[in-house]
Amino acid sequence: MKIAHAEFVISAAQAAQFPKDRLPQIALCGRSNVGKSSLLNTLLRRKNLARTSNTPGKTRQLNFYLIKPEGHVIKPFYFVDLPGYGYAQVSQAERESWRGLIENYFKQSSCLAGALSIIDIRHGAVASDMELLHWLISLQMPTTLVATKADKLSNKNRAEKFRQINAGIATLPLQSTLMFSAEDGSGFQELWKQISAMLHTFKKPEIS
Ligand code: GTP
Ligand code: MG
Repeated sequence: MKIAHAEFVISAAQAAQFPKDRLPQIALCGRSNVGKSSLLNTLLRRKNLARTSNTPGKTRQLNFYLIKPEGHVIKPFYFVDLPGYGYAQVSQAERESWRGLIENYFKQSSCLAGALSIIDIRHGAVASDMELLHWLISLQMPTTLVATKADKLSNKNRAEKFRQINAGIATLPLQSTLMFSAEDGSGFQELWKQISAMLHTFKKPEIS
């Protein structure tokens, strides 16, 4: 996939700010600090389009990035970088407000073509990841599970970890699972293939 244009559009703290142009959207979900923004930068071959940080809980809004692929096969779409969940250092009230915002987004967004559920390959899918996966499946959302930070493990260990992760989610009807690394580019082609498939099969709902 070659990208002709990628731009940050809006950081939305409430539903009224979500774009209304009805372009398809691909959501990036995962625990705080798992590597969502880094994955986005790697996919777009941009260093700092999405802000990354060593401080967990950095992304507090939904950040929309408009992507225009080269050619006419894939039409323009949005990547939506969601705030990370599962970060202990924030207040209960703040956590509830994030949760409300994200749930609102999934329920309201009729243009969601799919979700990337991003986990750390070293930790696998923990309880909060499983909760999200079950929820995405209940919404019949095409979902690809991405085990990132693969560079942190040796080739042998990453294969074994990936096997364990797959065994743990074998009963879930996911679109696919794959390994990724923002550091060494592992999984780059495969992830674009899955995103293209989501965008190809997505049918825009009629305006009622
Ligand atoms: P929040 O927005 O706070 O939820 O975090 P995030 O999920 O967007 O994570 P972010 O991309 O900011 O990355 C968090 C940290 O992990 C940064 O220090 C990144 O450099 C590092 N990181 C992300 N992806 C990878 C990877 O594939 N390999 C390695 N080695 N480090 C990574
Ligand atoms: Mg982020």
